[in-house]
Amino acid sequence: MKNIVLMGPPGAGKGTQAKLIIAEHNLPHISTGDMFREAIKNQTPLGKIASQYINDGHLVPDDVTIGLVKERLSMDDCANGYILDGFPRTLVQAEALKKLTEEINRPITAVLNIDAPKDLLVERISGRRVCKTCGAPYHIVNRKPKVEGVCDNCGGELYQRKDDNIDALNTRLDIYNKDTAPILDYYAKEGLLYTFDGTIGAEKLIQEINALLEGK
Ligand code: AP5
Ligand code: MG
Repeated sequence: MKNIVLMGPPGAGKGTQAKLIIAEHNLPHISTGDMFREAIKNQTPLGKIASQYINDGHLVPDDVTIGLVKERLSMDDCANGYILDGFPRTLVQAEALKKLTEEINRPITAVLNIDAPKDLLVERISGRRVCKTCGAPYHIVNRKPKVEGVCDNCGGELYQRKDDNIDALNTRLDIYNKDTAPILDYYAKEGLLYTFDGTIGAEKLIQEINALLEGK
């Protein structure tokens, strides 16, 4: 069973690898960041809460985020596997996720950690463009769409995320180091952690990830 958690600092390539994994394995891609951005776009009550935190790079409170993931992971399409991207981000979330996935009998089978140094993360985040419709990430130098400003997958319009500026990115990196990186130890102790070099090209990285997933 492929019940996968993708981890890594902002800009490491979680969203990029998730899209490549789902192209091969047909699993639901559950990105809490994408869910919050969709809620903000639609001005839902969740979006109103999330927008207070997300634009300047702070974490949305645990209770809100855990409730959202609990509801999503319980849906029928997650019965045959799932990819979580951007959750958990705190130890409280990691513990809640363990409890919840065991309760619904969909326990995590692998945590894939994509690692990259800060200068590369800054370069990737500052050149990123994202599809307004499907959330696919592009880069103005590294991963250009076939037609400028247009998503290859769905034809949606590409835009720059509000939190992709240097101030918000510094906040996101600080929070990652303080609150999220300690979860890696937690998953290492559970025997679930696999770390990948995120500095290599996306196409090469997906081959390494797929090689691991074949045995999962
Ligand atoms: P989220 O949307 O999860 O953002 P993030 O973790 O900061 O990660 P990013 O999406 O910025 O990076 P990524 O690793 O997906 O990189 P990507 O593939 O796009 O969260 C946003 C916010 O939502 C949070 O700050 C918080 O406010 C809130 N939130 C979300 N989850 C939460 C939670 N659990 N609890 C509380 N709050 C939460 O790639 C980046 C760029 O690099 C792209 O341009 C891409 O084309 C390029 N690229 C990717 N891979 C490669 C490669 N191998 N080689 C060259 N270029 C590459
Ligand atoms: Mg992402």
